[in-house]
Amino acid sequence: MNQYRIAVIPGDGIGPEVMTENVRILQTVAAIDRSFSFEFQTFSWGCQYYLQTGKMMPEDGMEQLRSFDAILLGAVGYPGVPDHISLRELLLKIRHDFDEYINLRPVRLLKGAPCPLKAENTQNIDMIFVRENSEGEYSGQGAWLYKNSPQEVVIQHGVFSRKGTERVIRYAYELARKERKTLTSISKANALNYSMVFWDQIFEELGKEYPDVKTSKLLVDAAAMFMVKDPKRFQIVVTSNLFGDILTDLGAAIAGGMGLAAGANINPEHKYPSMFEPIHGSAPDIAGRGIANPLAAIWSASQLLDFLGYEEWGARIVDAIEKMLAEKHALTPDLGGSASTSECGKALAGILKQLS
Ligand code: NAD
Ligand code: IPM
Ligand code: MN
Repeated sequence: MNQYRIAVIPGDGIGPEVMTENVRILQTVAAIDRSFSFEFQTFSWGCQYYLQTGKMMPEDGMEQLRSFDAILLGAVGYPGVPDHISLRELLLKIRHDFDEYINLRPVRLLKGAPCPLKAENTQNIDMIFVRENSEGEYSGQGAWLYKNSPQEVVIQHGVFSRKGTERVIRYAYELARKERKTLTSISKANALNYSMVFWDQIFEELGKEYPDVKTSKLLVDAAAMFMVKDPKRFQIVVTSNLFGDILTDLGAAIAGGMGLAAGANINPEHKYPSMFEPIHGSAPDIAGRGIANPLAAIWSASQLLDFLGYEEWGARIVDAIEKMLAEKHALTPDLGGSASTSECGKALAGILKQLS
């Protein structure tokens, strides 16, 4: 029996609410399968912890996480703690320090999920975003000069290393080859005359090694427009950290909403633990009411199962989510239902048991 040690960081706001259901689903799957099991350890780090200790995680927090097979994260950030502190010292720190340089975000419209694009159907919206996740506009480098003077200037660097850019683009080419899908690179070289010229150049260079992969390139503004007007043109998509952040919220909007959008932060070399999370935040506007949609977090658990090599289970979880959507069964208010977070999670666990 394979045993996996999973670190659980529920975090803030609706994070702990959706995490309970996420863990429930993984426990359900392990209990049915019996060839593997999970041992969960919870770390109560986040904004509450910060207000008590002045830190988002303990000094040795990263060491504590290091030996785990994977991390599940709920959401980080809450009014009362500045976002640039809470996020940079917990979520972004883990992504960066564990070199989780691939952020895999499916944008897939399941049957029954609400889509604001009237003409669209489920086959037309089925993409995977490969978002650069370790550098770019998120490098945290810059300067704040002449503070509070009329000469005040702020500089926020976008850092694109050859290593960092090549590895994410190569990952996307490999994925497109493996899945026999097209690859679209999204950049902005018409305005960003260093970073995105470099990005485009590397995309072209590596393309020579993948003559079998059909590619296209889009500027990010046009890409945003096409995601709405003609989403079927996208299959595998590779883009920078910031563009990937923004476009995957747009992706969430066309594929059922934030309550259905998942992401995996992957260190492909398995040198450090990878981290799985919904792409939504702590949703302070609905936190504490037990109505948050847990399906995004649960979809990220399916990505964890894929990552551990249990792709059949990963697919079964997404199928079970689709069944609930198609039958309008036990959905939370964001999807037009009246179920609570835990009713939704329990219903999904029930479907998984039935399917097995
Ligand atoms: P948000 O994703 O928390 O919320 C945006 C909107 O979507 C809200 O109306 C919210 O109610 C709704 N929503 C989000 N998730 C939902 C779910 N599971 N079920 C039902 N409705 C859901 O974004 P925000 O309001 O911009 O950010 C709130 C806080 O979260 C900020 O501190 C922000 O920095 C942080 N944040 C964290 C993460 C993360 O931890 N990965 C991601 C995004 C934002
Ligand atoms: C996401 C979030 C984070 C990001 C924030 C909270 C730092 O928006 O995971 O999409 O920008 O990556
Ligand atoms: Mn985001």
